[in-house]
Formats: sequence, C-alpha cells, structure tokens
Amino acid sequence: MPSTTTCYTSGMPAMRCYWVEREASGAITSRIADRDSSELPPGDVTIRVEYSSLNYKDALAATGHPGVVRNFPHIPGIDAAGTVLESNSSKFAPGQQVLVTGYQLGSERWGGWSEQIRVPAEWVVPLPKELTTKQAMTYGTAGFTAAQGVDLLQRHQVTPDKGEVIVTGATGGVGCLAIGMLARLGYRVVAVSGKPEAEPFLKELGATEILPRAALADDGKKPLLAARWAGAIDTIGGAPLANIVRSTQRRGCVTCCGMLAGAEIPLSVFPFILRGVTLAGIDSAECPTENRPALWKHMADDWRPAMLDQLANVVELDEVGDAVQRILRGEIIGRTVVRVN
Ligand SMILES: NC(=O)c1ccc[n+]([C@@H]2O[C@H](COP(=O)([O-])OP(=O)(O)OC[C@H]3O[C@@H](n4cnc5c(N)ncnc54)[C@H](OP(=O)(O)O)[C@@H]3O)[C@@H](O)[C@H]2O)c1
Repeated sequence: MPSTTTCYTSGMPAMRCYWVEREASGAITSRIADRDSSELPPGDVTIRVEYSSLNYKDALAATGHPGVVRNFPHIPGIDAAGTVLESNSSKFAPGQQVLVTGYQLGSERWGGWSEQIRVPAEWVVPLPKELTTKQAMTYGTAGFTAAQGVDLLQRHQVTPDKGEVIVTGATGGVGCLAIGMLARLGYRVVAVSGKPEAEPFLKELGATEILPRAALADDGKKPLLAARWAGAIDTIGGAPLANIVRSTQRRGCVTCCGMLAGAEIPLSVFPFILRGVTLAGIDSAECPTENRPALWKHMADDWRPAMLDQLANVVELDEVGDAVQRILRGEIIGRTVVRVN
C-alpha cells in the first residue's frame, strides 16, 4: 500500500490524491499524498470528485508512460464524477452533479484520482438523473467508448437484423460494456476473450457465443474471408482486427479503438472496395462536447446493460496501485471504480 505524505502551502483545504513523481534517476514512484487544492490548474469548474475509474490509459499514466504523461508530478484519472464546488461558467452551479471523461484529464492535466479536479467548462457533462456518480464511473471512458461504438454501428445501419456483431477484449472495460449495451439493444453478440473461465460471465452479460483469441488467427494471405460479421467493436487492433475486417459482410461496420494486439493492421483495400466495409475509428477523449450529452442519455436509459451495477469492482484510492498492475497484466474482468471521497 502506498505511503501518505502531506504538503500544505496556503492553508487551502487538503486534497487527497494519487501522486505520481519522476525521480532524478528517472524512476517513477507513486504514493497517496495530501496536496493543497490551490495547486490545481486554472479552469472554470472545480469539482469534488466522488468516484473515478481505472482504464488501461490510467495504468499507463500511473506508471509514467511517456506516451500519456509528459509532466510530473502527475495525478492520473481520465474519468471523474462528483459535485460542482465552484464554477465560473453559467452552465454549471455549485451543488450540481456532473461527470468528466477524456480530453486531457489525467494525461496533460491532473485527473480524477484526487478529491478535487478543476477543468474547462466544455469538458463537463451534467450527470444524467438516472445515473449515480458510481454508475457513471462504472461506465467511465470505457463505457463512453463502447457507446460511441454502438452509435457508429447504428449510423452505418448495422441493425440487429443484419447479423452478428463481434466484440474483442470482451472481459475488458470497453468490451464488457459494449456486449451489455448491444445485448440490451437486441443484437446477437459474439465475444472474443483470452479468458476461458469468463465464459459464464460473458454469457450472463448477453453474449450468444464466446470465441477464443485463436479464432481470429490466420496466415493473412487471403484478402477476403467468408463474410460473417454485420459489425464489430474491436478493442485490440493488430492482426485480429484485420481478420475481422476481412470477415465482415457487405456494408458492415467495424469500429477500432485500441491496440493491445498491435498497432499495425495488415490489410488490403479489398474489404473496402469489394464489400463496402467501413472501418471507423474512435477517439473517445476528443469526442465533441455537443455529442456527449445524447450518448450519456442513451447510456443512462435505453442502452444501459442489465448488469451495469454488477460490473463495478470498487477500490479505494490507496488500493488502486494493485489494480494498476492487474490491468497491465490483462487480468481484470469488468470495470474498476475508484472511490475517491
Ligand atoms: N481510442 C479510444 O478512444 C479508447 C478509449 C478507451 C479505450 N481505448 C483502448 O482500448 C483498449 C481496451 O480498453 P479497456 O479499457 O477495455 O482495457 P482493459 O479493461 O484493460 O481490457 C482490455 C482487454 O483486452 C484483452 N487483451 C489484453 N491484452 C490482449 C492482447 N495482447 N491480445 C488480445 N487481447 C488482449 C483482454 O480481454 P480478454 O482477456 O477477454 O481477451 C483485456 O481484458 C485499450 O487499448 C485502451 O487503451 C481506446
């Protein structure tokens, strides 16, 4: 368990947080610290954080990955939900419940693993009245990304009657929330997972069939494979994503958000020019402000997985370091919600 250190400089309220530093040697260290809230960056809205979450990107931030964090000391947490403490924006008032996901939160700006955050008003979304702050963070960026995947499938006319939708990284945050939402909407979902022991969980979530990761392995020589998928929510990229695109039906849509299986996609143009397949990227952090409330409304309401509450594994701030190691090893099933206040 990390040690706790205290640093007050102005007599402002202390703010407990997960504090990541880079030592002179270059080593990355982390601990629970009490910092002065006057140290928060400038911004329109100060939020008392109740819950944050753990995403793969948070694990990279917590371990000082240079692709995510360039300035130290740093506070991870790309998601936060809580109550407005102070606001310079007419859109938000003290006492209002809100959430923030993405933008630079937890990467270039101190994030949600802290009792307070301060952010630009454009980053803030009113908490839908149907969701608690804990449920919002059970979704977090993972759920918001899954929702953007569902939205892209719908925009490309991949309706439940068109056929099966495949979801990779099925036991991960994006994967399991995508399965839950798609099942709620009546899709037949095929889940791809490296965890055979998770089959009962994935079936309960709504998957109709579970495939091992090896099912997406092939020699890559054929430009097209037998067309099976109406759509896909892929979270792992690499050769498995190429296999999915080559196996997608005419006019199908494949969404892409991650690269756990590789950053290169070994593909020809044939799935695109002969079958009209769409490969649609998701950059969740930069989802336009104006698109966010409608997606959160669906997540709160008609896309909400029946098992949303059961997906949350709650950890305290001083337990999150262990969870960071587990997500980096790919061991976590479901979502890790961080209780901050
Ligand atoms: N572009 C965006 O906007 C965006 C937003 C959110 C997330 N992401 C990215 O999407 C990915 C998934 O995010 P997440 O939050 O769901 O992560 P996560 O909770 O860590 O889940 C990832 C899952 O992928 C599977 N997996 C892990 N390593 C793998 C490998 N080498 N090959 C194949 N499958 C592997 C595992 O599921 P199984 O054991 O069930 O196979 C794992 O549980 C991450 O790369 C993340 O950075 C991107």
